[in-house]
Amino acid sequence: MIYFDNAATTFKKPLCVKISTLIALNKYSANPGRSGHKLSIKTAQKVLETRINVAKFFNCPNFESVIFTKNCTEALNLAILGSAKQNSNVVVSCFEHNSVLRPLKHLEDMGVISLTIIEPQNNALHIKLEDIKEKIQANTKMVCVNHISNVTGNLNEIEKIGKFCKDKNITFLVDCAQSTGHIKIDMKKQNIDLLAFAGHKGLFAPQSIGGLCINTKNSPKAILFGGTGTNSQDLYQPKTIPEYYESGTVSTPLILGLNSGLKYVEKNFNKITNKTKKLTIYLYNELLKIEDIILYTEKESHFGVVTFNKKNMTSTEVATILDEKYNIAVRSGLHCAPLAHKFLGTTNNGAIRISINHFNKLHEIKKFIKVLKRI
Ligand code: ALA
Repeated sequence: MIYFDNAATTFKKPLCVKISTLIALNKYSANPGRSGHKLSIKTAQKVLETRINVAKFFNCPNFESVIFTKNCTEALNLAILGSAKQNSNVVVSCFEHNSVLRPLKHLEDMGVISLTIIEPQNNALHIKLEDIKEKIQANTKMVCVNHISNVTGNLNEIEKIGKFCKDKNITFLVDCAQSTGHIKIDMKKQNIDLLAFAGHKGLFAPQSIGGLCINTKNSPKAILFGGTGTNSQDLYQPKTIPEYYESGTVSTPLILGLNSGLKYVEKNFNKITNKTKKLTIYLYNELLKIEDIILYTEKESHFGVVTFNKKNMTSTEVATILDEKYNIAVRSGLHCAPLAHKFLGTTNNGAIRISINHFNKLHEIKKFIKVLKRI
């Protein structure tokens, strides 16, 4: 099987991730932070080590502000629902995933917020600061833009938007599900207040581990309540972080898998990004040469995602042939970001998304191009 669906989840995991997850099951299976015995403390130390490494990776000023969640969706729910202010406005890009749009729509339906959706101007396929500026209202309390679109692979102007939001005292939430591991992320430099990430994509962790990094005094309110292993006499949620946000036992095997994935990416960052860039550019240029292809990825985007359609065929028809006849796994249809498809005019047909990483080989891309010409 040629695996070109790394934006959905990375299939091939580095050996160190598998070993760490297994070691966690063997050695660190006590409950971190619940009991005072040696095994529990040893496990809690490993969780803490990961928290510190995640903070360093994203340049989050405080490691205690790294909150582990089940996935990026849960992190985004915490950021959005926990930050909701009555009668406020939220400005959001049309490229957002349903994990952003659905909690926001829920808040809008409840009469808590009003929602402003922005689209790129002047034939651009990514969000610029200019697109946002004119839409800000006096009551706008949050701007949410993803770093790289999971639909197109295009990069949004995060740094400029971050600076603008900081000057206006607006909370800036960035969904980094697609960018993590593909491009450097620096919460301080990019003025990101709330950063949501997934472990199972560009960090090669097992599925079901992600997090929210908080870099703001306007931190969200908890949306999950329960046992934290601290202040057990108190019927109210303790105020200390990260416990305030992390009710219930965290998943040590997944967290330790994340720790190893993170270290792997840090150590090999240049190798990973250079190889991915080279393959993405090759794929893009080859697709450009094929007549009946419509591309939705910009030329400058070289972060592993190239999205397109083949004229006169639906994306699912193409993907099914690729899968069944040629053993090539891609994603087709709608990619959980309906407004992105509306903007691209692909609501009916969806789009074919090729998402590669450094584990892919040039000959796999060559084979794909050859096959695509044949379909
Ligand atoms: N959000 C993931 C994707 O883009 C699952 O495929």
